[in-house]
Amino acid sequence: MKILVTGGAGFIGSHLTLSLLKEGHEVTVIDDLSLGQEKFLNESKTLKGFKFLKNDLLNFEAILEACRRVDQVWHMAANSDIAAGGKKTDVDLKIGTIATYNVLEAARVQGVKEFIFASTSAIYGETTVKPTPENYGPLLPISFYGASKLACEALATAFAHNYGMKIWIFRFANIVGSHTTHGAIHDFIKKLKLNPEELEILGNGKQSKSYLHVNDCVKGMMFGLKNSNEPVNLFNLSGEGSCSVDQIATSVISKVNPKARKKFTGGDRGWPGDVAQVLLDGSKLQKMGFKASFNSAQAVAKAVDDIIGDLETGMS
Ligand SMILES: NC(=O)c1ccc[n+]([C@@H]2O[C@H](COP(=O)([O-])OP(=O)(O)OC[C@H]3O[C@@H](n4cnc5c(N)ncnc54)[C@H](O)[C@@H]3O)[C@@H](O)[C@H]2O)c1
Repeated sequence: MKILVTGGAGFIGSHLTLSLLKEGHEVTVIDDLSLGQEKFLNESKTLKGFKFLKNDLLNFEAILEACRRVDQVWHMAANSDIAAGGKKTDVDLKIGTIATYNVLEAARVQGVKEFIFASTSAIYGETTVKPTPENYGPLLPISFYGASKLACEALATAFAHNYGMKIWIFRFANIVGSHTTHGAIHDFIKKLKLNPEELEILGNGKQSKSYLHVNDCVKGMMFGLKNSNEPVNLFNLSGEGSCSVDQIATSVISKVNPKARKKFTGGDRGWPGDVAQVLLDGSKLQKMGFKASFNSAQAVAKAVDDIIGDLETGMS
């Protein structure tokens, strides 16, 4: 199959690209390298069928050309820095919503039949039902990032219903593992390396979220794709349970410098727009037979080792 992965030089996209190549597909990555890094694709570059296009999804002609003769598009590109989106209010509108429209429209024009979209638990906002299932509503995101992703889901379903394109939407928990460029685990490790005595932690540390290891994220998407075939297929993708920011800090401190002190900045969340308590219900995909290798706490522990390894090998 000929596959296009947008954002394929990013954290999740680079793991996904490698897995798709290993399954024998021809995979083209389009990425402007604004957040991703070409070195994350080093292994993919050694495999047959790989192609890299450095381009911006806001350039419609570029994405139109990239979608030519493609069977399937995996749209992973986005502004993954939620806090940054709150400081400049059109970042997610452009890189999220408009870029997604461009990819959907290019896919439509070129006759692409299958579109897989990386969505997020952030579309739920602050929920009253936990664990939160796919049919929870009303959907009232509290970040520009979540608002953009919700708009993208709506655009994708409109394309599906008007043009017969099949859509898979995966609402991810917090994904962790190697090839990250930011996020709590990554930031804590970097902060502790700069100041081994004290770790500054945003908020009161009681923020608690569902986590999933990136290998399980890729496996889960591939499983969902193979085992569902509706015009619109919607899944939460999460490890079991949750993990608090304080637990993450403890895990990082134990690996980097067990003598370090914790310093909390206070407040119930890291930044405005941060959903402090997230517990995703991943049972829909699990009932179909998907089993993540790690629960939330195990995924975090593995990711701490992965990211320390990345920093040691210059991969981060
Ligand atoms: N990492 C998580 O915890 C998480 C959670 C929920 C959803 N997601 C979603 O999963 C997807 C992948 O996330 P990630 O963590 O790998 O992020 P990432 O930042 O590592 O990857 C995104 C990639 O998109 C590229 N990109 C951004 N804007 C672009 C543009 N205009 N043109 C071309 N390329 C562009 C970046 O350079 C980067 O390589 C994103 O859509 C993200 O919103 C991630």
